[in-house]
Amino acid sequence: MSHRIIPVDPFDLVIFGGTGDLSRRKLIPGLYHRDADGQLPEEARIIGCARTDLDREGFRALARQAVMDHVAADHRDPQVVERFLARFEYVTNDVADDAGWDALRVMLEAASGPRIRVFYLSVGPSLFGPIVEGLHRHGLSQGARLVVEKPIGHDGPSAAALNDTIGAAFDESRVYRIDHYLGKETVQNLVALRFANALFEPLWNARHVDHVQITVAESLGVEQRGPYYDRAGAMRDMVQNHLLQLLCLTAMEPPHHFEANAVRDEKLKVLRALKPLSGHEALAASARGQYHGYADEAQNPDSRTESFVALKAEIGTWRWAGTPFYLRTGKKLRARLSEIVVTFRRTPHQIFPDLDAPLAPNALIIRLQPDEGITLSITTKDPGPGGFRMRETPLDMSFGARAGTAWRMPDAYERLVLDVVRGNQTLFMRRDEVEAAWAWVDPIIAAWEASGATPEAYDPGSDGPYGALDMLSREGRRWRVLTP
Ligand code: NDP
Ligand code: BG6
Repeated sequence: MSHRIIPVDPFDLVIFGGTGDLSRRKLIPGLYHRDADGQLPEEARIIGCARTDLDREGFRALARQAVMDHVAADHRDPQVVERFLARFEYVTNDVADDAGWDALRVMLEAASGPRIRVFYLSVGPSLFGPIVEGLHRHGLSQGARLVVEKPIGHDGPSAAALNDTIGAAFDESRVYRIDHYLGKETVQNLVALRFANALFEPLWNARHVDHVQITVAESLGVEQRGPYYDRAGAMRDMVQNHLLQLLCLTAMEPPHHFEANAVRDEKLKVLRALKPLSGHEALAASARGQYHGYADEAQNPDSRTESFVALKAEIGTWRWAGTPFYLRTGKKLRARLSEIVVTFRRTPHQIFPDLDAPLAPNALIIRLQPDEGITLSITTKDPGPGGFRMRETPLDMSFGARAGTAWRMPDAYERLVLDVVRGNQTLFMRRDEVEAAWAWVDPIIAAWEASGATPEAYDPGSDGPYGALDMLSREGRRWRVLTP
């Protein structure tokens, strides 16, 4: 399959936290693939910035290791690797003090010609504010673009405060708040499915859709991120950003144009139309769980942090009133599986006699990972003479398989970093979206805290806590099974 390579202009990408996990696992490998595809201009530089005392060669060695560890052998071309590594520079800078900023300025001013300047904050969230202030104080923010990792704040007020700090140094048109789920191929395919086909739009509403399930299930636990995760929990780590963004793309009205502010305006309307949940209503519309063994991993024996959350969200619009959106995410579950399932209403009248069970409703399954693709589940007649038996038949589109074996599914970061250089904010969150998401999430967390209840325990490798199953069965529905 051929894909179009859109060249980008010369750029300097400064990665604060260039020595960290995200940089090594995602950013450096993603940039390597773009270089291998010929998309990076000759002048482009990648400048690592962290406290560790490294020189240019030391950082190139780190980048080489990142490529060896995270780029498949059949995609590693020795010539491209050398060309790629020659782009790397390094500045030692402890952003907590003022000493290292001049070195960064000297490095940036040594550029061979005019170029786009991007600062990527791949550091812990407590450093977002100090780095933005440092850039501003040292005159480096002017005209530059800023990429901010998640989490943006811990709640609405802290997100607003951080956004104020950012806004004092960077105009919103130069701020790129990353939600890497928006860079996933199938998430963009959801947009294509909805807005490049006439087929679904007439059915995409409460009259025809019974309910929507959005699942992001992980089989791994919190691993090395216990201390961060224990302060966040599944609600702040996953629901406030990734799951609500998926909900927005599923539920939003067609934007007048596939352009940053038009798309973000429509997503914002969805967030603002979410029925507020607080107090008893929040408790009834949610379930929380914590897997056995979590407290040890998080190094907090008294932890009340949820590693699983399920929620019923309702959108108060003409299109969606009466169609619940069920959200579910958790760690250490039966399988790693992310999907959006749109279940349509049953046929209004059953004409086939003698069926053993009611006909299954049609469902559209958008698989984000693994095995990216889309399945439409329809009912067909079982072949054979005599009688009229039915079965559910999947109309299956697997994107990986369709694209052929030579094709590689690009990682979300690969696209997003280059979108920043291209100046395309469509797949990034605007300030008001982030704050609207917190405005929905905060009262739910407050209700949990006020209840004094602890999250329900669940077994690693299971489908999550009983409370989540109960939440749906009370409404005569079932979660889709988490099949690996
Ligand atoms: P790491 O802890 O692995 O890396 C943190 C980086 O920050 C290191 O390079 C560290 O280098 C640098 N750093 C720490 N303190 C300072 C300082 N005072 N001055 C300059 N640099 C400093 O974190 P991750 O890479 O995992 O995460 C980075 C960000 O990305 C976080 O906000 C995280 O929430 C987010 N994120 C990460 C994901 C992942 O998969 N890892 C996924 C989604 C989001 P040094 O010690 O040399 O200073
Ligand atoms: C991150 C969360 O944003 O997304 C992690 O902080 C989570 O806790 C990760 O594991 C999941 O991303 P992906 O792309 O592996 O589904």
